[in-house]
This record gives sequence, structure tokens and C-alpha cells, in this order.
Amino acid sequence: MKRKRIRRGPVLFLLTIVIGILVYIFYTEFRPTVIFGLRDDYARAIPFQKVPVGLRSLKAEDCGSCHQEIYKEWKTSIHAHAYDDPFFQAYWNKDKHVFVCLNCHAPLENQQPMLIQDIPNDRVERATQIPNYRYEKGFEREGVTCAACHVRDGVIHGPFGDSVAPHPTKFDPAFRTTQMCHRCHSVVSGPFQFYNGGPCGTYTEYEGEFFMKEKGLICQSCHMPKVTRPVAKGGPIRHGRRHLWRGGHDPEMIKRAIAVHVVADPPQPVPGERVDFTLTLINAGAGHKIPTGDPDRHFSVEFVILDGEGNIVEHQAETMGRWILWQPVILEVYDNRLLPLASRDYQFDYDLPERATDWKVQVKIRYHILTDGQHEMLRESYGLTGNDPYVFTIYERDFPLNETLSVALDAQSTDPRLGCAKPADANTVG
Ligand code: HEC
Ligand code: HEC
Ligand code: HEC
Ligand code: HEC
Ligand code: HEC
Repeated sequence: MKRKRIRRGPVLFLLTIVIGILVYIFYTEFRPTVIFGLRDDYARAIPFQKVPVGLRSLKAEDCGSCHQEIYKEWKTSIHAHAYDDPFFQAYWNKDKHVFVCLNCHAPLENQQPMLIQDIPNDRVERATQIPNYRYEKGFEREGVTCAACHVRDGVIHGPFGDSVAPHPTKFDPAFRTTQMCHRCHSVVSGPFQFYNGGPCGTYTEYEGEFFMKEKGLICQSCHMPKVTRPVAKGGPIRHGRRHLWRGGHDPEMIKRAIAVHVVADPPQPVPGERVDFTLTLINAGAGHKIPTGDPDRHFSVEFVILDGEGNIVEHQAETMGRWILWQPVILEVYDNRLLPLASRDYQFDYDLPERATDWKVQVKIRYHILTDGQHEMLRESYGLTGNDPYVFTIYERDFPLNETLSVALDAQSTDPRLGCAKPADANTVG
């Protein structure tokens, strides 16, 4: 009997088509197009707010005519630039201007040109939209504006119960809790997204930290330093908070998060000897993991050996952050970020050559908002222009590789900049 031979070509062809269709269905029906999942609160804009009686508009500048200092502080903060931030704009281009980003980066309905009616199956790219006739042109440029946090139902909400103001006010206990930050700073994962706590899960990292709660530290303790002053022009002096929200865009703030200490063995090396360095990096000042927030953020720890002429003869670099596989599903493979008060040792060994008389080791810690690769991609394909810094050197120190090394190492503890571990910074926490 003759066996019928199966012809390979058509079978392979069919198989390719079937796989292609499955992949297409997976990407269009199951895998979300954005890197996070939806939650009821931020799936929608903060509902439309009318102007409170007694005020001209909801514009921050108008609030600023009476709340001058708060307005000036807010203006310098990243909240005021959450929409025009060039990194946001570039990534938003990449995501084809999908509406959902605005719900945190320009969160009030008054700031959004389109009204969302329905989000079928939570697929944001298929949302049905109609023009928002109450949209105030240009208001989106204020990003996270005053009214996004303070105005509800035509009333200004705040932390006091006894204001005498030209606008209606209401005491709201949430202002002195982390509740104020939850909506936008606890971005959750969606289907087929396996993060270690959400892409911008700062809130979840803090929640797990009993230490912060025991000490009574809330987000505002570190990100909105205490101040005593009139809160409005001509008003009484009160205890309030500065509207600064410094974070990853401010090298001074990042410096506050870390403490660094370097030791060497032997502490007084001579040419021909092997030296072992240990750098201890401590999360001494943040109430959550460092780095936190945006999954692109990372630290790098570098050791560089420089010869007498300043040429690099050896270089070692390590990174601290999250390693995420973005395709075909989002999978966080590894997370070596530091929890509050946790520390990590970085080792570096070097055999000093005989001729190394006035050589040095340079120790450097840098904070990266993006990787060089992503920065390049955003510039080439998504309209990132300008030269906004995206890498900050937050610790840099040269140590001599000779018998004076021990003196340089001892001097670390008296260095006012960083030196040994010191708990956060006494003047901003509280
Ligand atoms: C014409 C001046 C003026 C304007 C404009 C103004 N305020 Fe006020 N606001 C005041 C005064 C005065 C107080 C009370 C100060 C006090 O008692 O210490 C106040 C109080 C507040 C409080 C504290 C409320 C509480 O009881 O906790 C908040 C919050 C506030 N304003 C926010 C805003 C915002 C947001 C805007 C803009 C949408 C705004 N204000 C516009 C004058 C103004
Ligand atoms: C309505 C949404 C919203 C709320 C509410 C909100 N934030 Fe933010 N926050 C943002 C967005 C969006 C960014 C990122 C802006 C950017 O980088 O483009 C941000 C950035 C930050 C940063 C990083 C600054 C930097 O330099 O990278 C800090 C710190 C911060 N917020 C603290 C807070 C704290 C504390 C609260 C609560 C009191 C709070 N935020 C409430 C939306 C919000
Ligand atoms: C991300 C949310 C957020 C934004 C945006 C915001 N505030 Fe506040 N505001 C707060 C919080 C939280 C407090 C409570 C601080 C405290 O505990 O005293 C506060 C307090 C206040 C107070 C009372 C005084 C004080 O220091 O407590 C005033 C007045 C005020 N804000 C005005 C403004 C104005 C004006 C703007 C815009 C220029 C603005 N806020 C933007 C969150 C915000
Ligand atoms: C004990 C002080 C402290 C507390 C409490 C704290 N933070 Fe921070 N936070 C810091 C320091 C210091 C940094 C700078 C280090 C960094 O960016 O990794 C920072 C950075 C950040 C950033 C910027 C990340 C980036 O690179 O853009 C965000 C967002 C943030 N914090 C949000 C929060 C929120 C939300 C809370 C409350 C759940 C909170 N923080 C509580 C100290 C604190
Ligand atoms: C639920 C609130 C929320 C939504 C929705 C959201 N973001 Fe953000 N985004 C944040 C917060 C909070 C931060 C600050 C985290 C930090 O500082 O590390 C941030 C930071 C960023 C940053 C880093 C900015 C910088 O200067 O480095 C980019 C880029 C960004 N978001 C893009 C987007 C895009 C694109 C979308 C829509 C696909 C989006 N975001 C949707 C809350 C949100």
C-alpha cells in the first residue's frame, strides 16, 4: 500500500496564517496597549468643576494673586509641568495621544478637549469620545493644577477648619493623609502585566513599610516641607506646607535619599598590591524604594581607575533598578531596588601594578531618568527636543591609591555632603 505524502509547503503556510491571526487577536483583544491597568478613579477625568463663588477662574495664576508663595512654589514643581514635560510629551506621542494619560497629567475634565463616554472592555484605544464643550482651551498646560487637588463641587477643600476666605472653603481631613496622593501615585498593572507592584507603584511600596507608618511619615512629610507663614496675602500666620514636590528631576532631592560609605582593604595600599573596595549604598532618606515611580528610573554605581595622567585604565559599572521584559507580555524579571533603610554593598577589586605611583580610584553614583537607548529613541522617533538633563551625578569622589588612602576614607564621616548614614534630613522631614 502506498502512503499518501503530506505536502509541507501549504501546511506551513496555513500554520503561519493561524499563528499570525492568534498574535493579532492577542495584541488587539487581550494585551493592553498601555503599560498599566485601569482603576475606576483614574479611568476617568476628575469631574468638571465650576468656578467657586467669589473667584474669577480656576486658573492657578488667579489663585496665585492671593496665594502668592504657594503659587510660585507650585510653578517650579513637576506637577505644574506634568503636561508640557518633554519626556511626557515624547512618550505620549509614542502612545498615539491616548486619552487616559491626561487623567493624571492634566486631570481635570475642564482641562481635556474630549469627553470619554465608554471604554469597551477597558481598551483605552477604543474609547468612544465626544468633544467637551466645557473644555477651557490651554488649561491642560497647567498639568496637575491647584483645582485638581482643591476644588470639589464649587467649594475649595483644604486642611483647615477656620479659614475666612473670599471663596467658600471646606475642611477635608484627607489633606493631611497619603490619601491625597493615592489616585495618581499608585498606578496598577493590567491583564498580562506582571509587575512587582505596578509601574508607578510608589504608594504600594510605602504601604508595605511599617517603619514609615510607625514614624508617622506621610508623602507630604518629605515632598511638601513644613512652613509657618500666612497662606494668603494678608491672612494670619499658619502651619502649612510648601508646594514643592521635589523628586527624580532634582539631584538635591535624590542626594537626600542616599547615604554612601566606602572602605578599602588594605587601607594603605602600595604598588603591586591588590585592593578590595566596598561601597555601601543606603536608602537613608526615602519612604519607599529607591528608585521609585517610573519603571525607567535607575541608579548606576561606578568604579574607575585613573592613572597618573588621568587616563581610564579600568571601569566597572553596576545598576540598581527594575529589569522588565516588555514583550510579548510585561514581566518584571528582577528588582534590586532598595527598601527604606536597606543597604547594599558594591565590591570592586583591583591589582595595583608596580608602576602605579599616583593612581586614583574614582567612585561615582548616577541617577538615570531614562536609559541612553530610550533617550535616543525618543529623540529620533517621538519628537523629544531640547537638552533636558536625564542623568544626574549624585555622588563623585576620587580616592588616592597609596598610603594616604586611609586618610581620605576617614574624612568621609566628617564630610557635610554625604559621608556616613544620616537619617534623611532633619530640616525637611516632619
Ligand atoms: C482673592 C484672594 C483669593 C483667591 C483668588 C483665592 N484664595 Fe484661597 N484663600 C484666600 C484667603 C484669604 C484664605 C484664608 C486664609 C486663612 O484663613 O489663613 C484662603 C484659603 C484657602 C485655602 C485653605 C482652605 C481651608 O480652610 O483649609 C485653600 C486650600 C485655598 N484658599 C485655595 C485656593 C485656590 C485653589 C484658589 C484658586 C482656585 C484660591 N484659593 C483663590 C484668598 C484667596
Ligand atoms: C492628579 C494626579 C496627581 C496627584 C493627586 C498627585 N500627583 Fe504627584 N505627580 C503626578 C504626575 C502626573 C507626576 C509626573 C509628572 C511628570 O514627570 O511629567 C507627578 C510627580 C510627582 C513627583 C516627582 C517629581 C519629580 O521631580 O520627578 C513627586 C515627588 C510627587 N508627584 C509627589 C506627590 C505627592 C506627595 C502627592 C500628594 C500630596 C501627589 N504627588 C499627588 C500626578 C499627581
Ligand atoms: C497635588 C495636590 C495639590 C496641588 C496641585 C496643590 N495643592 Fe495646595 N495643598 C495640598 C495639600 C496636600 C495641602 C495640605 C498641606 C498641609 O498639610 O498643610 C495643601 C494646602 C494648601 C493650602 C493651605 C495652606 C497649607 O500650606 O496647608 C493652600 C492655601 C493651598 N494648598 C493652595 C494651593 C494653590 C494656590 C495651588 C496651586 C498654585 C495648590 N494648592 C496646588 C495639595 C495640593
Ligand atoms: C522619608 C521621606 C519620604 C517619604 C515619606 C516619601 N518620599 Fe518620595 N522621595 C523621597 C526622596 C528622598 C526621593 C528622591 C529619591 C528618588 O527619586 O528615588 C523621593 C522620590 C519620589 C518620587 C520621584 C521618583 C522619580 O524618580 O521620579 C516620587 C514620585 C515620590 N517620591 C512619591 C512619593 C509618594 C507618593 C510618597 C507617599 C506614599 C512618598 N514619596 C513618600 C523621600 C520620601
Ligand atoms: C494614574 C495616573 C497616571 C496615568 C494614567 C499616567 N501617568 Fe505618567 N506618571 C504618573 C506619575 C505619578 C508619574 C511620576 C512617577 C515618577 O516621578 O517616577 C508619571 C510619570 C510619567 C513619565 C516620566 C516623566 C519624566 O519626566 O520622566 C512619563 C514619560 C509618563 N508618566 C508618561 C505617561 C503616558 C504616556 C501615559 C499614558 C499612556 C501616562 N503617563 C499615564 C501618573 C500617571
